[in-house]
Amino acid sequence: MARGSAPGKVILLGEHAVVYGRPAIAVPVRQVRAEAEARPSDSNRRADIHVLAPEAGVDAWLTDMADADPLGRILRLTLAELQVDEPPPLEIEIRSTIPIAGGLGSGAAVSVAIIRALAEFFLRPIPLERQSALAYDVERLHHGNPSGIDNTVVVYDQPVYFRRGEDPRPLRPVQPIHLVIGDSGIASPTAQAVALVAQQREARPQEVDSTFDRIASLVVRARAMLEGEVPFDLGYLMDQNHEMLRILGVSTAELDRLAAAARRAGALGAKLSGGGLGGNVIALVPPSAAPAVADAMAEAGARRTIVSEVAG
Ligand code: MEV
Repeated sequence: MARGSAPGKVILLGEHAVVYGRPAIAVPVRQVRAEAEARPSDSNRRADIHVLAPEAGVDAWLTDMADADPLGRILRLTLAELQVDEPPPLEIEIRSTIPIAGGLGSGAAVSVAIIRALAEFFLRPIPLERQSALAYDVERLHHGNPSGIDNTVVVYDQPVYFRRGEDPRPLRPVQPIHLVIGDSGIASPTAQAVALVAQQREARPQEVDSTFDRIASLVVRARAMLEGEVPFDLGYLMDQNHEMLRILGVSTAELDRLAAAARRAGALGAKLSGGGLGGNVIALVPPSAAPAVADAMAEAGARRTIVSEVAG
């Protein structure tokens, strides 16, 4: 039996602008994980894999799965990477505590968990950069033009300062930060949100590019704060970033309500995280305020809250 797993993630600052080459910061959320287990099966179907994802209602054979199916795609890509043409009778079971379509990187984490389980099963390690590249290929099924930040932070499992086309830079906060993540319970349609921003940019290129530049300057300041170079006011930067995401049209009344409730309950700042139009809001909190902020977000409509500490 072989196991693989990967954490969830949130984008601290910089989503959407990161698709257009601006930097962003993302951090792992280890309280939620995707896990995959690969084991020999007694099936007599040759060169096939029995794929089970009970929580998603999947019980299928790889040869019957379309290549546009993210599970089918990552399994095939990984077998090719491992140079396994005809796998022995094999079963793979996927479980995840990461909410699907919640902006917490569930798709990328499931891909990476599968890559790791198969690599362990066939006893052939796959380097982290290759794991990230394989998971990126699957991210493209979710939306055509992913920046690559989700697969990167999920594979490296540490805070990253990310800019498209450059090697990701690990980021080590000099002091741990505490987040309360509130899930709106509304699916975040990343492809739709990315398309919406693309339309805005086509209609008003200068305005939207200057919003991206302002987001980029928040990200650069946040990195300097996290690395201890300038005084810490990350909450203010997060509030500003939320405002810019509102201007880009990817916030909603529900997300604004969660962010406002968090601030009123003592959060230092709050913003939507990920694609938006649903998904989650993250609030930066002093540790002592975490329970009150989580309660306030639940009262304002969050279906689930997660308290997470981010360290270097
Ligand atoms: C999605 O988690 C983050 C976006 O910036 C899209 C991307 O980076 O590919 C909205």
